[in-house]
Amino acid sequence: MSIQNIGVIGAGQMGNGIAHVFAQAGFSVLMQDISEAFAAKGVATIDKNLQRGVDKGKMTADEKAAVLGRIRTTTKLEDLAPCDIVIEAATEKWEVKKQIFETLDKVCKPGAILASNTSSISITKLAAVTKRPEAFIGMHFMNPVPVMQLIEVIRGLATGDAAFDAVMGLSKQLGKTPIHCNDFPGFVSNRVLLPMINEAIYALYEGVATVESIDGIMKLGMNHPMGPLTLADFIGLDTCLFILNVLHEGLGDPKYRPCPLLIKYVDAGWLGKKSGRGFYDYG
Ligand code: CAA
Repeated sequence: MSIQNIGVIGAGQMGNGIAHVFAQAGFSVLMQDISEAFAAKGVATIDKNLQRGVDKGKMTADEKAAVLGRIRTTTKLEDLAPCDIVIEAATEKWEVKKQIFETLDKVCKPGAILASNTSSISITKLAAVTKRPEAFIGMHFMNPVPVMQLIEVIRGLATGDAAFDAVMGLSKQLGKTPIHCNDFPGFVSNRVLLPMINEAIYALYEGVATVESIDGIMKLGMNHPMGPLTLADFIGLDTCLFILNVLHEGLGDPKYRPCPLLIKYVDAGWLGKKSGRGFYDYG
C-alpha cells in the first residue's frame, strides 16, 4: 500500500505535532480543524517548533519553508477525501470522535486507513462506527510529538494485517519506533503512566511531601526527564482525569480511582500548563 497523502484531524497540541513530523518526513499533509483560526494557530506552532531546529543549525531556513509548504489546512472533513490515511487527533470526547469517523468513513476513498491518536478511547468501539473496521487502527503519538520516539500502535479487534503492516511501516518512515499492543483500556502507555501520576497526587493529598519534593524525588531518583506532577501539568489535568476514569470504569478495579485532589483541581479549572495553573503556577 503506497501512502503519500496524509490527513490530520485537529490542529491542537497533538494534531500539529503529527502534521509536523509527517511534513518533515516528506509527506503531503492536510490538517483539518473546526475553524480557520485554530488551523492557523496549529501552523504557527509548527513554524515555531521548526525554528528551534533552524536556530540550532539542524535545518536551513529553506528546508523549514519546504516543510511548511507541504502542510495545507482546511475546515471541511470532506476535503480529506483523497487522503491515503487520516489520523484523528481531535478532542478526547466520544461523541466528537464518533461523528468525525462516521463522516470520514463516508467521504474517504475505499482502502484509506482511518487511525485515531486517542489516548484511551477503545479502538474497537471507534472502528465499529465505520464500515471499514479492518482498516481502522490506533496510532498513539507521545507529546511533544517531534521529540518523542514512540508510536504506540493499537490493534482493534477487527484491525487487518494490511492496515497494521502499513502503519508500522509508515511510523518507521517518520523515524519513529512503533510498538504494538492490543486494545484494552489505557493501552500500555497510560495504563502504566497514569497510576504513577495518580499516586503522586495522592502523596501530595495525604501530605507525604510537597509538589517540589515529590517531583524532585522521582526526577532525580528514577532518572525521569520530569517529575510526575510536572508531567501531569504538561499532559493536562483534565486529560489525566479522563484517562483515569476510563481505566477505572473499563477495568473496574478501585486501584484506578482518581485522587479527589485531581478532581478538585479540574473542577477549579486548574488544568495545568495550558490554563496557566495546575500543580505549578505558570502565570
Ligand atoms: N517541538 C520540537 N522540538 C521540541 C519540542 C517541541 N514541542 N519541545 C522540546 N523540543 C526539543 C528541544 O528543541 C530540544 O532539542 P535539542 O535536543 O535538539 O536541543 C529537545 O527537545 C529537549 O528540549 P529542552 O532542552 O527544551 O527541554 P528538556 O531537555 O527538558 O526536554 C522534554 C523537554 C522532551 C519535553 C522532556 O522534558 C521530556 O521528555 N519529558 C517527558 C515527556 C513525556 O513523558 N511525554 C509523554 C507524555 S504522555 C503522552 O504524550 C501520552 C498520553 O496519552 C497522555
